[in-house]
Amino acid sequence: DTGHFTYDPGYGSTASTKSAITYIDGDQGVLLYRGYPIEQLAEKSNFLEVSYLLLNGELPNKAQFESFEHDITHHTMMHEAQKNFFQGFHHDAHPMAMLAAAVASLSAFYHDDLNVDDPADRKMAAIRLIAKMPTIAAACFRYSIGWPVRYPRNNLEYVTRFLHMMFEVPSEPLTLNPVAAKALDLLFILHADHEQNASTSTVRLVGSTGANPYASIAAGITALWGPAHGGANEAVLKQLEEIGTPDNVEKAVLRAKDKNDSFRLMGFGHRVYKNFDPRAKIIREMCHKVLAELGVNDPLLEVAMKLEEAALKDDYFVERKLYPNVDFYSGIIYKALGIPTEMFTVMFAIARTSGWIAHWIEQHETPGSRIGRPRQIYTGADVRDYTPTAKR
Ligand code: SDX
Repeated sequence: DTGHFTYDPGYGSTASTKSAITYIDGDQGVLLYRGYPIEQLAEKSNFLEVSYLLLNGELPNKAQFESFEHDITHHTMMHEAQKNFFQGFHHDAHPMAMLAAAVASLSAFYHDDLNVDDPADRKMAAIRLIAKMPTIAAACFRYSIGWPVRYPRNNLEYVTRFLHMMFEVPSEPLTLNPVAAKALDLLFILHADHEQNASTSTVRLVGSTGANPYASIAAGITALWGPAHGGANEAVLKQLEEIGTPDNVEKAVLRAKDKNDSFRLMGFGHRVYKNFDPRAKIIREMCHKVLAELGVNDPLLEVAMKLEEAALKDDYFVERKLYPNVDFYSGIIYKALGIPTEMFTVMFAIARTSGWIAHWIEQHETPGSRIGRPRQIYTGADVRDYTPTAKR
């Protein structure tokens, strides 16, 4: 018992996967990365330190962090030939399509010298993926707006370097508001891992076949893209824009309850949390603080708050324990940082890369790990004999 909740290692014990990385208690709204409460990491840590924690199981000391940061900083460049990839996409290709393809292509550049059974090679792949994801993500954005790719600057820290690659234009020096980097770093911490969610389970399943880490993470990116998963943050913003004003909130809640209407409140509900998603609580508070510090007044924040208030008073949502999840408020902050809606799930992918590759490595390091092979409940025809065409 850590004083604020009773730790039940058996929670969700019907699970088939064993992992030591992240613990969630959906009833109590608890999320721990390697035993550390997400609230403490959000307040005291940074994304690279959290990435080290997820990968290694312990917080780094000063020398370990500096060495890790040095490794990441010196592997941020894409192979120059990868830039040609983007030329093959139509300019309005969705950035998640470009990201998945570009990350899968890393297999072609680094696969030959990678032995998945060698711990040093696995660590190198983790460094390369965490280092290159922001570079590739920024290139997706730059290509979509017809701007030249900006090379990573080693004198900048991880998140500031990413914002520089996203927004710096050749014609004038970029002045970055430190609030933006701090806010994005915190969002990356909150999105870094989440136990056996759909995309992480995908990475583990693909990795269990012996597939290389780049192909495994590319599979995770495509799984994350779905609007029921990481794609929800983009869907939430679009939904808030569609609702438009607080006056339309009641109608939206009615539609979300109508079983004949496929409309759902995006950013609400969760497979595991039947209480408040602890990340959503932190992000909601961040929203007010970051928008105020950036001097941004976004009317969609009021729509979101009215939607949350209306839903949490409504029996349909209360009975089904549907609360705002990590995706409900994050888009409002991304938008305030100047990140376009289509790039929201890419933000999620950058952060989740640390969790994905930590799970991919953990699976390789777990003795007796075997290829994943989910079973099914067969509901098809009974055994029967083949009939010739003339008799069909
Ligand atoms: C993420 O797994 C993870 O950890 C994921 C994630 C991570 O960090 O990796 O946390 C990130 O993916 C968060 C979820 C983002 N998705 C959305 O916000 C999309 C909107 N949410 C829903 O589509 C839904 O809530 C899911 C997909 C999240 C969960 O789907 P389930 O398992 O079907 O939800 P449920 O079993 O809790 O549903 C119970 C009832 C059902 O109705 P009844 O059949 O009981 O009448 O609630 C209804 C559902 O139809 N319901 C909703 C709803 N979510 C569930 N009704 C209206 N609006 C919603 N958002």
